[in-house]
Amino acid sequence: MARRKTSAPLIPFKVTGTGSFLPSKTLTNDDLAQFLDTSDEWIRTRTGIRLRHVLGKEEIPAQMGIEAAKRALSRAGKTSAEVDLLLVATNVPEEPIPGTAPHIAAGLSLRKAPFADLTAGCAGFVYALALAGAWLQVGLARTALVVGTEALSRFVDWEDRATCVLFGDGAGAVVLERKSGESGILGVALRGDPTKLHLLRIEAGGVRLPASCATVQAKKHFLQMEGKGLFRAAVGMMAEATRAAAAQAGIPLAAIDWVIPHQANLRIIEALVKRLRIPAEKVVVNIDRVANTSTASIPIALDELVQEGKVEAGQILALTAFGAGACYGTVILRW
Ligand code: COA
Repeated sequence: MARRKTSAPLIPFKVTGTGSFLPSKTLTNDDLAQFLDTSDEWIRTRTGIRLRHVLGKEEIPAQMGIEAAKRALSRAGKTSAEVDLLLVATNVPEEPIPGTAPHIAAGLSLRKAPFADLTAGCAGFVYALALAGAWLQVGLARTALVVGTEALSRFVDWEDRATCVLFGDGAGAVVLERKSGESGILGVALRGDPTKLHLLRIEAGGVRLPASCATVQAKKHFLQMEGKGLFRAAVGMMAEATRAAAAQAGIPLAAIDWVIPHQANLRIIEALVKRLRIPAEKVVVNIDRVANTSTASIPIALDELVQEGKVEAGQILALTAFGAGACYGTVILRW
């Protein structure tokens, strides 16, 4: 596809490396049907999911983010000593204090770079990407590592067929380098709608409702979701944010070469692209193989697209997500 001449990026940088990691253990829909009242047919037709990867009991969640980050750094030709910002998007931290970022920083042997977690539901990665880009732009860093990593298999109720079939574990990472030029963020629309915060939550384990025998017995440490409400809200939120980000970028939606939507449900993705009138061949879908990996879903899909050699310099990508909070948003990037 031809390189487009549009105005300079709002936030200039170059993505110089991408990486991802999926645990080796997999669960098919038929595997789930062995212990749940569900079927491959129900899951596939309602969600598009066939398979998900899940961490083994002995595996360490942060290791997924570390592996994804190492792959991204190696492809960028960077050592971890050159990283001067690490942002980690995740919903459930490695441990309440100090979170996930310090564990990933330790695994990468970062020494002086600042690191922090960012929680914005499944939209965490697009939030972190925009924030890291702005951090580079104001001169606080030259090389940023943005990681999305999630192990929701540890927080779903494996007796609740309405939630556990939807999620998978994994991690993705990108390396951003400060560079003037034509690549970077062209438009960004990050949003939140706190009237919808009840739609997806883990009620206990924080300061409002600390862990106790009663919270464990009431299953309040598991993910609770109002699926229908989320489904209805998701399409409108991502469509609105994508239109707003494209308007800020000064481009028509037709100029977008690749849409990478959060992989929550194939029907949500199909409804979104229908509403935006974007041809299906421009839309990246891997939910059938990975399910909903939350903050990791966009960087995993992006890495797959890049490794397949499909992304060319100058192309325009729209990354759009929604999730708990309800946080949502779209980042439009020129590659
Ligand atoms: N297998 C079989 N039946 C199931 C099931 C499963 N895994 N999960 C739910 N059901 C049943 C329900 O119990 C219900 O039965 P009932 O009619 O006897 O009460 C029936 O299927 C229909 O359930 P419903 O919730 O209406 O299905 P749905 O078409 O809304 O699909 C979701 C459910 C969860 C797939 C869908 O609402 C969804 O994807 N929502 C968005 C979720 C999301 O994006 N979450 C992550 C946000 S980041």
